[in-house]
Parts: sequence; C-alpha cells; structure tokens
Amino acid sequence: MEFKRVVEGRRSIRRFLPEPVPREDILEMLELATWAANASNKQMWRFYVVTNRDKIAAMRDAVDSELKRLQVSAGKRPQTDFYSVLFEGAPVTIAVAYSAYRSSMEELMERAGLTRDEIASRRQRPDIQSIGAAIQLLLCAAYEKGYGTCWMSAPMVARRDLESIIGVREGETLCALVALGRPAEAATGSSRKPVEQVTTFVE
Ligand SMILES: Cc1cc2nc3c(=O)[nH]c(=O)nc-3n(C[C@H](O)[C@H](O)[C@H](O)COP(=O)(O)O)c2cc1C
Repeated sequence: MEFKRVVEGRRSIRRFLPEPVPREDILEMLELATWAANASNKQMWRFYVVTNRDKIAAMRDAVDSELKRLQVSAGKRPQTDFYSVLFEGAPVTIAVAYSAYRSSMEELMERAGLTRDEIASRRQRPDIQSIGAAIQLLLCAAYEKGYGTCWMSAPMVARRDLESIIGVREGETLCALVALGRPAEAATGSSRKPVEQVTTFVE
C-alpha cells in the first residue's frame, strides 16, 4: 500500500472479530515497528504479546476496579469506561514497555550537578518519545496488513497491576497497550486540524 494511504487510512478501531492473529503476522508488524527512530538507537522497547484470555480478563478487571476506586474517591458514580477496557474485545493485546534509558548527555548533566527536575525538563523523555515512534509504526504496519488497532494509555491507571499480570521485567516500565485484531467496525472518520493551523514557520 502506498505510504500516504496507510497514514491517512489508519484509524483507531475499537471493536474486533475474535479470529486469532497468526504469530508470523504479529512478528512481521513488530519487526517493522522496531525500525522506528529511537534515542541513541538503544531500542529500549519490549513488546509483550498477550493472547491468553484469562490474563486479558485479569488485566481488564484490574483497570476496571482501579478506575471505579478512583471514581468513588472523586465522588463519582462508579462505572466501567469502555475506552479504558476495550482491549478485552481484541484477540491480541500488545503491551509496550520501555527500559530505563540514560544517555551520555544525562550523565553529563548529573555530573554538572543539575537536579533531577532540571535534567528531566531538558531531556523531555526520549525513552517515551522512542516508544511512541515505534507504536505509530506498529499501527501503520497492522493497518497495511488489514488489522485494526487501538493505542491505549488509559489502562495505565492500573499500571502496577498490569505489569504484575503481564510479568513485565524488572527495570522496565509499561507505557501503553495496543489492542489488535481484524476490525469488526468501519473506522469512524476522525479529522485533523488544517496543517497551517498547527504549523508555525520561524523565519
Ligand atoms: C498516546 C495515546 C493514547 C491513547 N489512549 C487511548 C485510550 O486509552 N483509549 C482509546 O479508546 N483510545 C486511545 N487513543 C486513541 C485516540 O483516541 C485516537 O488516536 C484519536 O482520537 C485520533 O483518532 P484516530 O486514531 O482514529 O485517527 C490513544 C491514542 C494515543 C496516541
């Protein structure tokens, strides 16, 4: 498929058919995702491919119960939020984690005596930026193969529980889930702001 068609055609899919996704397809998509630009080429990502229904149900329950706990604390009526748990309807959930990344620049700033906050404000999370680049490629690779995806950060409300259910390795941090499967709905036509509106030429 032509690049422009992939980029413009990919839309979030939130309802999926139950048919399983072959492992070769998953590996092919992830392999493409790993060609993303990433800080110092550290490739600090790890993709946990979750297909076990019991684990996915446990993940869903963890997100739902944490959400309801927070809603009650905030004085709201507890209710399930579809946008936080929709991954339960997909045959595959890809949980994306990153490992701690420390660049030579960060080391320099530490040695120069900058505080953690000062370093953080200058580095602007190259690890998370790298993961984002890989996830976007994953979504496009999936779309090109006829799969639907939904990139999800809302479930991170229960990050610690999810990490434990998935078995995320020591030193890694979970940062997103990607629901993946054959689409069971037509993509809704989300639009974009005109490029001129989001562009500033600094001349
Ligand atoms: C970092 C990030 C987090 C997101 N988290 C969620 C989420 O938790 N639940 C959800 O339903 N969609 C989530 N989305 C999908 C966005 O809602 C969606 O990309 C946006 O509305 C644009 O629509 P499109 O993907 O169809 O172009 C997320 C997207 C990104 C990039």
